[in-house]
Amino acid sequence: MNIRLFKPSLGEEELEAIREAFERSWVGLGPKVSEFEEQWALFTGSEMAVGVNSATAALHLALACFRFPEGKKVLVPSLTFSATASAALYNRLIPVFVDSDPVTLGMDLDDAERKYDSDCVAVIPVHYAGHPVEMEKLVSWARGRGLKVVEDCAHTAGGIYRGRMLGTWGDIGCFSFEEKKLMTTGDGGMMVTDDPELFRDVKAMRWVGIDKDNWKSSRQYTASDSDAMHWYYELNILGYKYNMNDLAASIGLVQLKKLPGFNRRRSQIIERYLGGIAGIQGIEPLLPFEPEKYPYQMFGVRSDRRNDLIIYLKSLGIATGCHYTPLSIQPLFRKYPAGCPFIEAEHNRFVTLPLHADLSDGEVDYVVNALRTFNLNESKAAG
Ligand SMILES: Cc1ncc(COP(=O)(O)O)c(C=O)c1O
Repeated sequence: MNIRLFKPSLGEEELEAIREAFERSWVGLGPKVSEFEEQWALFTGSEMAVGVNSATAALHLALACFRFPEGKKVLVPSLTFSATASAALYNRLIPVFVDSDPVTLGMDLDDAERKYDSDCVAVIPVHYAGHPVEMEKLVSWARGRGLKVVEDCAHTAGGIYRGRMLGTWGDIGCFSFEEKKLMTTGDGGMMVTDDPELFRDVKAMRWVGIDKDNWKSSRQYTASDSDAMHWYYELNILGYKYNMNDLAASIGLVQLKKLPGFNRRRSQIIERYLGGIAGIQGIEPLLPFEPEKYPYQMFGVRSDRRNDLIIYLKSLGIATGCHYTPLSIQPLFRKYPAGCPFIEAEHNRFVTLPLHADLSDGEVDYVVNALRTFNLNESKAAG
């Protein structure tokens, strides 16, 4: 048995969509990106969506939209992937690390309040593993403090919290379509907002400073008219090469149709895991998972014997991980304001277990059984 931790679920439909892009011979930034943006805006109920090559790029540009003065501070959870805090550094801002709520592992709002000072300009909540941050509380706190809210939705896609799509609670939402996520385009990301004025320059920022649909203007190149300047563009802004391309968008359009099914399957798997591990001593779910309500990108458990458990599962062909080493103890980030004692200790109990839409019930049962035999062996050794 060899069970992967994460796996993209891709099939013939995605291959067919790429074939069409090949046949059009337009694989860069083009009409499929626009179509995917429109579909994503509809899906999330946002005014505007912009496709980029990753959530890392989306988070960078999201903060850039506000043109914060250099040296201001951004509150980020310590328990997250590097990109959440790197976004602050890319913008010459200072990440301030916030501890986690012990139960949900989302940003601890009391700690955010303790870390807040008048230099803070934004906060980036992360819906860790897909479990929603209590956005009604966070947004109202942030508004009271004059903070902009950028939601890091890398672990969610289609999650609805209190009747509202995650990613649309704050000023800007950033999604990831990297291969381990709820849906994938290989690599890719999407930014959404209800304030198009905020996104005025985003299309130029994501495409080397040019705010022009290249594929539209290319039609003018051979049009029989008297315009000799069809090739002209102006550079008014520093841009990056962060655009999504038509190959990725073609895959994304197919994956978006499959997303509800993927999310349903993930929820079934989590229900099966939760039923299976209930009663195994020394193993507790990583989070108060509510699979009937939210889609999750990760499943995991907490155990005092984390390393022994990982080695045991490894010996049975079960891949595991630990998400994450808190950023506040990563060498790169150690010099920034932090002090996150809970998560800096607690992450040593985390084990991420296999979760992806193609995982079979048999594989889930195999993992659960391995957790049970680990526990039995441990009990025997102790007795
Ligand atoms: C919480 C979080 N934010 C941002 C990212 C960055 O996403 P991407 O790989 O699309 O750049 C990730 C990626 O794993 C993530 O887990």
